[in-house]
Parts: sequence; structure tokens; C-alpha cells
Amino acid sequence: FARRTLVTAITGATAAALAMGSLSAQAAQTINLGHTLSDSSHYSVGADAFKETLERLSDGEFEVAEHPSGALGGERAMIEGLQIGTVDVVITSTGPLGNFVPGTYVLDLPFLFKDYDQARCVLDGEVGQDLLDQMSEHDLVGLAWSENGFRHMTNSKRPVTSPGDAEGLKVRTMENKVHMEAFEQMGVHPTPMAFPEVFTALQQGTVDGQENPITVIVATKFWEVQDHLSLTGHVYSPAVVLGSPILLDGLSEEERGWFEQAAQASADATREEVSRLESEGVELLREKGMTVETEIDKAPFQEAVKPAYQIYTDQYGSEMLDRVRASD
Ligand code: PAF
Repeated sequence: FARRTLVTAITGATAAALAMGSLSAQAAQTINLGHTLSDSSHYSVGADAFKETLERLSDGEFEVAEHPSGALGGERAMIEGLQIGTVDVVITSTGPLGNFVPGTYVLDLPFLFKDYDQARCVLDGEVGQDLLDQMSEHDLVGLAWSENGFRHMTNSKRPVTSPGDAEGLKVRTMENKVHMEAFEQMGVHPTPMAFPEVFTALQQGTVDGQENPITVIVATKFWEVQDHLSLTGHVYSPAVVLGSPILLDGLSEEERGWFEQAAQASADATREEVSRLESEGVELLREKGMTVETEIDKAPFQEAVKPAYQIYTDQYGSEMLDRVRASD
């Protein structure tokens, strides 16, 4: 009898503990956050900062589940997920974003920003805020501008220091018509593709090259499938922390404020990591066996991509471009 009482007491205590556990688990609302890069990437540093900040500010009301490495799909698919509410928060480059919010195409123009300071300053200023505000007209919530970095070309065929060297290469680009146009002008064959497919495409030789910031080249171990890196810095690649309106429009002002602060903390941490990897990453890539072309004469590249500006302004006008240039 004593043994049965003890067992009953233990079972009761366990059930109570489990009930309390599941009650507190139920109390926290899970926020699904997705991005396409590995869990050692600058996006993961940003995702961790988002999680830490939101969980702290909300005192456990929200719990963030991170889904790195394209587990929720490529960037275009995740943006669609935000619109229909199957994903809550996404860290994405602007690569596919112009397909949803055309105003952001201006940021994808090649050689628009001369350095990180200028790009960050524009995105943190009025132009950046206006673009974040535009997202709500397209069923998205723009929470904060984060960062991917200046993009550089890699390939498996030959060192590239001039547009002539790049001519004829089949290069994976993002699903972004401004980028594709610029590469066409350079004589490259642009092949748009979602990022989760890129490593295999390079490995199998479906494409000769790709272009991405040092951060991404390092995080994705592209040295395993690419021999040559050229520091072309042909375009600045912003990232943005986006939220789903289906989630955010239902929150109180205070709760929404927590998401905004978490997104800003994420952006700050990501930018810091980009700066760190920008200086250390190139050395690592050399050690891994890549040839690194550092002496790139940018003028012929700039000349080659000029028609992309005309095509952009013909379609979208020059107002945003003028505003970006004026903020230099
Ligand atoms: O190349 C891309 O698609 C993007 O730069 C990436 C790697 C998904 C990061 O946003």
C-alpha cells in the first residue's frame, strides 16, 4: 500500500510538473524566423540577436524558432510565406524583393554605393525608411535594414580582372532583373537561381560561377567548388528583416515595438559580423586554395553596366536614384 501511495504521489507530481511545463510552453507564442544561410553565417548572428532581444523584451511572451539554411525555402518562397502568414520573420537579401516591392530595385543597381559607410547611411536615413514603409503596400512589414555585403565574383574557369575575362562565363545570379541586366551588359550569361540550389549547380558544372559577398562565400564553403575569386565589389547587397503583416498587424503597439527593436538589434549584430568577416574572410579563402584577384580596375566594369541604369530609369523614373545619389 505504501509503495502504491508513493508511486501515485510521484505520478501526480510528474503530471503537475508536466502540466505546468506545457502551460508555460503554451503561453509562449512561437515565432518562426527563416533565412537561407548556415548557422555559422552573419544571418545567423542576426537571427540569434533577434531571438535574444525579442524573448528578453517580451519576458517570454514570444519564443523564436530559428530556421537557417533555407529550411523554409529560398528567399522568394519565404517572402511569399510572409504574405500568406506561413512564416513570421525573414532575413533576406533584396535579391528577389524587387519582384514584390519594385521600389527596392534602386538598391540593386551596380556600383551605386562606394563603400559600407555610404550604403549604411542611406539605408538608415530617409530613403531607407521610405522603402521600409513601402513594404506595407505589398503585404509585408519592413522592420529594419540589415546587411549581406558587397558582392564579388567567383568562378571555376579563370582569374577575372576585366569584363573581357568574364565574357562568356555562365554565372548564377539572384532572381533580380536589375542584376541580370547588368551581367548581360558585361557579356556574362546570367542564370537566375534560388540560393539553396547554387552549391550543387556549381559542383555539377551547370554554371561556371556565382557572385556573393565574402561572408556568404565563407559561410557556404564555396572554395570546395570554385577556384577563383575576384574582388569586383560590383554591387552592394542589402539585407532586410521582414515581418508578416498577418502576425504583426494583430499585435499591440508595445508588442510591435519589441519586434522593431529585435530587428534593429539583429541588423546591428549582422553588420558588425559583416565588417569582421570582410577583413578576415579573404585570408581564409586564400588558405583554402582560392586565387584572389585584388587589383580590379573597376572603371571598365562600371562602363559596361551603364545601360542597366538607363533601363532602370526608363521603367521606374529617376527620383529614388537621385535621392540616393544626393545623400552621398
Ligand atoms: O545570393 C543570394 O541569393 C543571396 O546573397 C543569399 C546568399 C541568399 C543571401 O541573402
